[in-house]
Amino acid sequence: MTNKNILIIGNGAIGTLWAHYLTQAGHHIHLISRRQSSQTIDHTLLQHDGELALNQQFRILEHQSTSTLNALANIDLVLVTTKSYQIKPALAPYIKQLQHCPIILLHNGMGAIDTLDLASRQPILLATTSHGALRQDAHTTLHTGQGKTMIGIAQGMSEHDAKMITAVLENALPPVTYCTDINQALWQKLAINCAINALTAINNCRNGELAQQQYQATINGVLSEISQLTQRLNIALNYQQLRDSVTEVIALTATNFSSMQQDIKYKRRSEIEYINGYVVRQAKALNLKTPFNEQLYLAIKVLESQFS
Ligand code: PAF
Repeated sequence: MTNKNILIIGNGAIGTLWAHYLTQAGHHIHLISRRQSSQTIDHTLLQHDGELALNQQFRILEHQSTSTLNALANIDLVLVTTKSYQIKPALAPYIKQLQHCPIILLHNGMGAIDTLDLASRQPILLATTSHGALRQDAHTTLHTGQGKTMIGIAQGMSEHDAKMITAVLENALPPVTYCTDINQALWQKLAINCAINALTAINNCRNGELAQQQYQATINGVLSEISQLTQRLNIALNYQQLRDSVTEVIALTATNFSSMQQDIKYKRRSEIEYINGYVVRQAKALNLKTPFNEQLYLAIKVLESQFS
């Protein structure tokens, strides 16, 4: 496999996790950062047991600097790993120069692609991952949980090219599965986030606490609304599949705090608009009622409105 020039936009935990493994696989990584100036950094990846520390070097590019704009000419592939609401502003300065370059959007929730003003021929892939990662400092990322990644075409590219890109990712951090219908995987992950994220943020608890009886009516209500919606959208996912995957993720990530619990705890904007908010908007367009999702959505909006 030839080595590629890969631009990663978003230097949070998932961005640095991929930067690390793609560098290890022999690719040249350029990671755009809003907080750091352009430099080559030494990066350490700690495995979940804390025993294995792997070191790599990759290039940080300062957001919107001249050297960053110059580097775009040689980029073969872009991976966007920002929060869903940051995708539009993060891509905007670069999108014109990247119009022939495949861009992968990898984020929690759904709907960020609809916020972009894309040329119809712009190659875009959508992906979802269940890897767990935590940024410890500017040079260290903790790989908290081994997961899997699913990827598929959103627009503007052939299946052949999409499968070549899948192979690049698979070679770096397997397993990565190419999906002919990525929407199904995205809806499944969305349902998991809808059931877990807001509830853990509102109750300020770890994912595992959602196994308690008091949360079951809300989780079941959220998932039942989503399964009615997916049925109307012809997405092949039923209530039981969604319920089983939520139960599994709650058990597998029992000691973790969800990303939304962390966002609300540290008074940061959450991804609620792209999680329960996306479900509420999609359902409204089809005249479906989603009171459980709406209640969680509004509760998070109230918490966010209290941040200065
Ligand atoms: O957003 C998150 O935290 C994660 O996607 C998940 C699956 C809820 C696990 O914590």
